Amino acid sequence: MNETAKPIVSIAHVTKQFPGVVALADVSFDVRDGELHSICGENGAGKSTLMKILSGVIVDYEGEVFLKSKSMKFAGTREAEAAGISIIHQELNLVEQLSAAANIFLGREKRTRFGFLDDHEMELAAEKLLAELECHISPRALAGSLRVGDQQLVEIAKALSLNTDILIMDEPTSALTEAEVERLYRVIERLRQREVTILYISHKMDEVFRLSDRITVLRDGELVKTLDCAATSPTEVTRLMVGREIEAVDFGQPRQAGEVVLEVDNLSLPWPGHARQWRLQDVSFQLRSGEVLGIAGLMGAGRTELLECLFGASEEVPQGCILLGGESVSFRHPSEAKAAGIAMVTEDRKRLGIFAEMSVRENISICTLQKAVQAGLVVPAREQTFVDKIVDRLRVKTSGPESRITSLSGGNQQKTVIGRWLLTDPQVLLLDDPTRGVDVGAKAELYRLMDELCRQGIAIILTSSELPELLTVSDRILVLSEGVLTASFDRSEATEHKIMEAATVSARK
Ligand SMILES: Nc1ncnc2c1ncn2[C@@H]1O[C@H](COP(=O)(O)OP(=O)(O)OP(=O)(O)O)[C@@H](O)[C@H]1O
Ligand SMILES: [Mg+2]
Repeated sequence: MNETAKPIVSIAHVTKQFPGVVALADVSFDVRDGELHSICGENGAGKSTLMKILSGVIVDYEGEVFLKSKSMKFAGTREAEAAGISIIHQELNLVEQLSAAANIFLGREKRTRFGFLDDHEMELAAEKLLAELECHISPRALAGSLRVGDQQLVEIAKALSLNTDILIMDEPTSALTEAEVERLYRVIERLRQREVTILYISHKMDEVFRLSDRITVLRDGELVKTLDCAATSPTEVTRLMVGREIEAVDFGQPRQAGEVVLEVDNLSLPWPGHARQWRLQDVSFQLRSGEVLGIAGLMGAGRTELLECLFGASEEVPQGCILLGGESVSFRHPSEAKAAGIAMVTEDRKRLGIFAEMSVRENISICTLQKAVQAGLVVPAREQTFVDKIVDRLRVKTSGPESRITSLSGGNQQKTVIGRWLLTDPQVLLLDDPTRGVDVGAKAELYRLMDELCRQGIAIILTSSELPELLTVSDRILVLSEGVLTASFDRSEATEHKIMEAATVSARK
């Protein structure tokens, strides 16, 4: 890639309106041949919409897209793929009931001389493609059974098999383990050697700055600027994204932790059929009102499982003792935990968090409708008041509370789920990686909210895939490694280094 590289894609005056929302307003910029071009912007800025236009997912828009100087108007993803553009969506898109190989060759199945599906040939080809990507799964494995990181590589393999010139990756790392992220970086490096042009979306500035040649910033559907990565900084990009200074959240005011609200004694979670036997083993800790307790650990360390145990949502019945407000509890179902004052924002928004068929309003009020009930009937005005409060407070970007939740951008869906649980006035709030896919401005807002909730006496347990986040927000941090608690740090003594050390020790004898 060099400065004079010709544009491979030119976006010219592209506008896209959805009912009540202008998702893109007269956006124009070029993508150079062979570059890695990041698209940055807050939740709802229009990033995914633009990528969907380029890849033929959205076919109805104003303006023009030129591919190698030729005006293109794709009637669907097939046409875009044939022209050399593939997309890996923010919410992955494999057919879960089909094998990895079948997904890779979906719609382009290899056939034998006699016209039968040539499974063997497809599996061999798939295996080879996957091996190039350091993905060592069986090509026969069902896509639905794969880890997100591997699913993503299956999508990349598919793109490679299509001889893609332009690969669009929409928040590819938001669900990956640290090791998978490194692997993805190597894959990206290899794609670049093959001169694949990459359009990359991420909310993580370190990643954007590590990978990009150039960065285009969108705000509220408008193009703000395209910048050379080497000539700008994360601070500048963030400022351009939000159009205002983000106030650093001041956690300097120490909070006063109160009574112990939750006590966990020797909690163990069986892991049937697995060599390790225990998903969690002898985990003990206390949680006080008014504090944020961070749980650190690598992916697979048991962070989510721990929260699920506390929320009555674990697959197996945990052993050991959980005391809530001094009383022993054992929840068999989240509804019991909710009734006792525990709320949880889950990590997997698409599967567990949102009710896709429902509106924004219903998604927010679903757990708290009784608050709006009078004489057995929901009073809409009351419901509206608290829904509005949440939409305002978390700056949920929506054309209105009656919009379907799935019409919101990824990050805004996440805010809705958090808002729903805030309304339940929980005593203990469990947040499982709540800021994944959430933009910087909304993150700051969320931190402020957490601080405020703590000051009102709520106790929060937080996991995060980003260590700096845990370090900023937590009063104390517990570290899990392979289901065992290996360390506990006070805010003043915790460092990334110490935490990584404790997260990677092998805790089992
Ligand atoms: N199918 C749709 N129907 C109605 N509105 C939509 C639809 N898809 C997107 N929008 C709206 O268009 C705007 C841009 O959404 P988009 O998904 O492009 O944002 P994004 O920049 O990708 O955000 P995020 O970082 O949260 O993924 C948002 O206001 C969103 O609610
Ligand atoms: Mg998006």
